[in-house]
Amino acid sequence: MSGWEHTYSGKVRDLYSSAEHPGVVLMVASDRVSAFDHVLAPGIPGKGALLTELSLWWFARLSDVPNHLVSGDVPEEFAGRAILAKTLEMYPIECVVRGYLTGSGWAEYRETQTVCGVPLPDGLSDGDRLPEPIYTPAWKAPMGEHDENITFERTVELVGLEAATALRDASLRVFAKASAIAEERGVILADTKFEFGADPATGALTLADEVLTSDSSRYWDKAEYDAGRRGLSFDKQIVRDWLAAHWDKSGTPPELPPEIVAQTAARYRELIERLTGK
Ligand SMILES: Nc1ncnc2c1ncn2[C@@H]1O[C@H](COP(=O)(O)OP(=O)(O)OP(=O)(O)O)[C@@H](O)[C@H]1O
Ligand SMILES: [Mg+2]
Repeated sequence: MSGWEHTYSGKVRDLYSSAEHPGVVLMVASDRVSAFDHVLAPGIPGKGALLTELSLWWFARLSDVPNHLVSGDVPEEFAGRAILAKTLEMYPIECVVRGYLTGSGWAEYRETQTVCGVPLPDGLSDGDRLPEPIYTPAWKAPMGEHDENITFERTVELVGLEAATALRDASLRVFAKASAIAEERGVILADTKFEFGADPATGALTLADEVLTSDSSRYWDKAEYDAGRRGLSFDKQIVRDWLAAHWDKSGTPPELPPEIVAQTAARYRELIERLTGK
């Protein structure tokens, strides 16, 4: 891999930099899958390429928001599963937006009728649509620790009022646009997580990381949802559900069985077909 030096591996992506490309990071999406903050075995064949394709498709549709994409033309050995991106100073905030109540949001709501400090009406059920999308940030924990849901006020303490407000407003704006695009295609964007960074040259707030992939988002089939069937998602819920039923969340997670791997890969492909029409 001439000239590219490995600098970091997250749970899913491997990052490289090159002296020939200052200010640019090569982000390679692997087939690794993570759930409950653990990387699982085996990977999902083709996942890195599918998620890269989906991210690129969304970046093209969200071009009114500055983003980190430099190019999808990458060294040949990574073709189709990597992007070149502008290296940013990342904010340590996971910018979660929820249009529907489920997952950790539902768990918190049941205890306190709030999500990340945002008060919600009473009487909501798991999977219900919220009166309007809400911004429910999380603190991006260092490797090995669990991300932690926080209030907007806490994000102000972490990054300052101006950046915290800009992160929230940009997240809600991108979510509104993306959920409208998805809904036209019969897909509900239930929730998603964005990451932003500051452009080191200008300080401009810049959309980074992967966007609106099935790793960072919950997608549901609208027709199924409208018919009252709420379990069917296009994301790694299959993996989460299987793991929750076969693992007590202590020690090493068990190997995913082949049928779970195959079902997950098929759902990822189906989502791309539904959204992109390809
Ligand atoms: N433009 C960018 N410049 C610098 N870093 C970026 C950029 N876009 C994304 N990143 C970072 O690259 C990493 C991508 O790796 P990956 O998604 O596998 O990590 P993760 O497991 O989600 O989280 P982490 O390793 O940060 O705990 C993340 O740390 C993300 O914050
Ligand atoms: Mg990530």
